[in-house]
Amino acid sequence: MQANPFNLQGKTFLVTGASSGLGRQICVRISEMNGTVILTARNLKRLEETRQAMQPGDHSLIPADLTSAEETENLVQKLPKLNGAAFSTGISIIAPTGFITQHDYNQTFQTNFEASLMLSNQLIRKKKLIRDACSLVFISSISTRYPFVGGALYVSAKAAMEGYARVLAIELAHKGIRVNCVSPAFVKTQMLNQTANDFSGEVVKKIEEKQLLGLGEPDDVANPVVFFLSDASKWVTATNLILGGG
Ligand SMILES: NC(=O)c1ccc[n+]([C@@H]2O[C@H](COP(=O)([O-])OP(=O)(O)OC[C@H]3O[C@@H](n4cnc5c(N)ncnc54)[C@H](OP(=O)(O)O)[C@@H]3O)[C@@H](O)[C@H]2O)c1
Repeated sequence: MQANPFNLQGKTFLVTGASSGLGRQICVRISEMNGTVILTARNLKRLEETRQAMQPGDHSLIPADLTSAEETENLVQKLPKLNGAAFSTGISIIAPTGFITQHDYNQTFQTNFEASLMLSNQLIRKKKLIRDACSLVFISSISTRYPFVGGALYVSAKAAMEGYARVLAIELAHKGIRVNCVSPAFVKTQMLNQTANDFSGEVVKKIEEKQLLGLGEPDDVANPVVFFLSDASKWVTATNLILGGG
């Protein structure tokens, strides 16, 4: 019988943004598919909470602020060879054009774009990605297709990341390393709570009504990410899966 291509037994993955929301759920689902995870984000206590929610295994926690070059380098140094990585680090700063500050620009682009770019860049340079057995998944956002008022910084940074991921897919294909994006609509996480605060509950309700299948659950992103990390998607690269609830 053919081995189950969804099984992640014997494989090791890095998950960023692992202390919360989508990143946390990705860690949980990888562990349930028998994979080993290296969890990273800034908050060690919340990383530990994620580990508690996972199936037991040889998982490790490496706290790092990925907007710091030094901490990113330190993280990469500690990593073993990887079968893949899910990049879920992100923040959401809502500001109508005309009210964008340099500080907000720097924060958004450093966290939502530069952090994942520089980390993946180092993973390549330090030869941490296993040839012919590696998959990278970037969490973008449906907002690059359906932008929203006040989303200039967030949408632009995600669009930059999508462009970067496509180039990476082309550059790494000959090494048998796949690169894909997923683009979720609104999912019930801490980030959505913050968006509800920035706008109003009513705006979020309107968005919910637009999504045919309502607001997403973290699993609605975590499961497709696990598919991309697994051999079940071994012929899929340079794509961007919309997870929009219709
Ligand atoms: N939720 C949604 O509706 C939705 C929709 C589309 C796309 N997304 C995208 O999905 C990703 C995850 O979102 P989420 O909803 O899970 O948000 P979340 O619950 O707020 O999680 C964000 C994660 O990013 C980490 N992070 C933030 N700044 C960091 C930094 N400087 N260095 C290292 N880690 C940092 C946070 O950990 P620490 O605070 O511990 O560092 C946290 O683990 C984001 O890229 C977001 O843009 C979310």
